[in-house]
Amino acid sequence: MRDPLIAICEDPLERRWVWISLLIAFVMGGILGLYALTNNLHPPSNVETIDPKALHLSGEFTEDNLGVTTNEDGTLTVRMIAARYSFYPQMIEVPVDTPVTFRITSPDIVHGVHVPFTNMSTMVIPGYISEVTTAFPREGESQFFCNEYCGLGHDYMWSRLKVVPKG
Ligand code: CUA
Repeated sequence: MRDPLIAICEDPLERRWVWISLLIAFVMGGILGLYALTNNLHPPSNVETIDPKALHLSGEFTEDNLGVTTNEDGTLTVRMIAARYSFYPQMIEVPVDTPVTFRITSPDIVHGVHVPFTNMSTMVIPGYISEVTTAFPREGESQFFCNEYCGLGHDYMWSRLKVVPKG
């Protein structure tokens, strides 16, 4: 096969490096795709808007509504606010191996929510409600971390997650 790069670069050494960098890009893309498929990672698909200036006044993100709610069908919904520099409420307790739907929003700027070693990770954008449904397979204490740089307190922005036995 005729080398398709011959028209744009004459030097064989340059051509070889173009091929090597293309190969690296494809290998990295492949690893990412494989990892997403095998670990059930997917981009958030929820597009729901909310007025970030009025979260505390009415609706599902008022203080009384934050935290874990058991729905009529037995599923769990966790409502959280990510704001400079913490998550509210600061402690969430959920049962192990149970589907939990997180609904999170921000009143100020972009934050992230990430629980290490799980597929719970999403961006939280003011004006939108981020929704993630996941289940935690292991009991124990863990943390929610902010993984989008949001200012001087970013490193200290975290809260607790407790995964407890069922019932
Ligand atoms: Cu919030 Cu970084």
